[in-house]
Amino acid sequence: MIRNVVYPGSFDPMTNGHLDIIKRSLNIFDRMTIVLAKNSLKTTFFSLSERIDMIKETLDYAGLSDRVTIDNHDGLLVDYCRNNNINILIRGIRPLVDFEYEFEMAMINRELNHNIETLFILTDQEYFYLRSTLIKDVVRLGGDISSKVPPPVLEALKRKLLDKV
Ligand code: PNS
Repeated sequence: MIRNVVYPGSFDPMTNGHLDIIKRSLNIFDRMTIVLAKNSLKTTFFSLSERIDMIKETLDYAGLSDRVTIDNHDGLLVDYCRNNNINILIRGIRPLVDFEYEFEMAMINRELNHNIETLFILTDQEYFYLRSTLIKDVVRLGGDISSKVPPPVLEALKRKLLDKV
């Protein structure tokens, strides 16, 4: 049986922290569907199509395109899972900052659909302080962030924030 998991998020933009979670999930599961979903607490910096393009390019760059599919969903995540027969959600979790928010999300998703389990993967120590807002700030102010984001994302950030590649 092929086991597929959903990795949901805003991915605004995708970072090496996300990429690490994808690779480690694929050590456990056969396939993954990255689902760009709407976070009502956030306004995204990149458009949906920009984020999808960056993820596609990153997966190609990382050689993962054959095992990872990208999709987007405007609605409840549990409905996406039900409609696509996937019952595992993957979330990366950073020490301290993420626990309460992630715990609440997992609880509400489980209440909405008891068949869905959220599996947490601890973010690698190299990325645990990585936050998209921080990355944008560093690029905007001319700092080097190349070890924290995949090359296609770095280019897109520079294009958008500094108007150059
Ligand atoms: O990367 P993020 O912004 O932390 O991801 C949060 C996301 C998009 C996974 C979450 O907001 C979500 O699941 N949105 C879809 C709507 C939904 O199902 N809401 C109920 C659970 S919070």
